[in-house]
Amino acid sequence: MQQLEGAPDRLVVEVLPRRASTLAHDVKVGLTATPKWLPSKYFYDEAGSLLFDRICETEEYYPTRAEAGLLAAIAEEVMARVRPTHLVELGSGPARKARILLRAAGLRGVRCVYVPFDVSDSMLRQSARALLREFDWLRVHGLVGDYDFHLEKMPQGGRRLVAFLGGTIGNFTEEEGASFLGRIASTFGEDDRLLLGTDLLKSRAVLHRAYNDAQGLTAAFNRNILRVLNRELGANFVPERFAHLAFLHEREAQIEMHLRAREAHEVRIEHLGLRIPFEKGETIRTEISRKFTRESVERLLAMAGLELEAWFVSPEPSFALSVSRRARGSRSSRMGA
Ligand code: AVJ
Repeated sequence: MQQLEGAPDRLVVEVLPRRASTLAHDVKVGLTATPKWLPSKYFYDEAGSLLFDRICETEEYYPTRAEAGLLAAIAEEVMARVRPTHLVELGSGPARKARILLRAAGLRGVRCVYVPFDVSDSMLRQSARALLREFDWLRVHGLVGDYDFHLEKMPQGGRRLVAFLGGTIGNFTEEEGASFLGRIASTFGEDDRLLLGTDLLKSRAVLHRAYNDAQGLTAAFNRNILRVLNRELGANFVPERFAHLAFLHEREAQIEMHLRAREAHEVRIEHLGLRIPFEKGETIRTEISRKFTRESVERLLAMAGLELEAWFVSPEPSFALSVSRRARGSRSSRMGA
């Protein structure tokens, strides 16, 4: 743990022990499967994170703007209602959304500790310092690591508002999402709340545009996963041999991103001792991004042992924020406490 010079006690950063990388195992499983797939979390190396930031600024990719606008509109109401002692943000990145929530907290006299949880140490420190300059009452307790693995490092006690924003829950299948949220819910006491961002199902045209921007940033982001494999696993993918594909899978209510081999060829993955054959037109599914309805969010929450307390929808293109609490009568590690 370290303290920021000049601001004793206001910033504490806890760097959690790294766990062994699962990349090699995941890539072996996904690329030897039929059909082929890769976990979308491997998009986000340095270059991938920068590309994602640029995607968020495109005219076509509406979720970031829709969520930020909605957050600004409801933040005071949420803060006044929950009055959290801790604002925990899973995957805090540059903390743009946290700034909106903390400003609202300040206006309502809610002086919570901000607990950003992120894999990037430098990003976390940089954004924490900026927030400390902006809010003189603020204290930050940062957690550097994989929030999926270190969920138990969230502060216990008090009233926690756990924010999981950006629609990232949509990158999990329903079962994975329910199990992840269920692990959060199992730590919840009576007064803890989840603030969840979910993109909503809408017209095919609007969704299609959001994942097929004219500048080709989403295509570059999609192909970047192959560069990650080349670097980390000694693979010899030629990214240009794959076309970017993103479409709405209507029955599953999800956008799927794929990389489609433009021609038949073989790729070597040195560190895995593998040769992966591709037929012409064969695809690797690189991401699912589920698009929700109020009903499907409520079902997901119920599977996780949570219940909806408040539901907010942005103007179109629609995006939703929900506040939920531990379902009454559900089991919790803190029950009876
Ligand atoms: C913010 C991670 C949820 O699924 O919309 C953006 C990622 N993929 N463009 C999403 C993403 C393609 C994004 N998440």
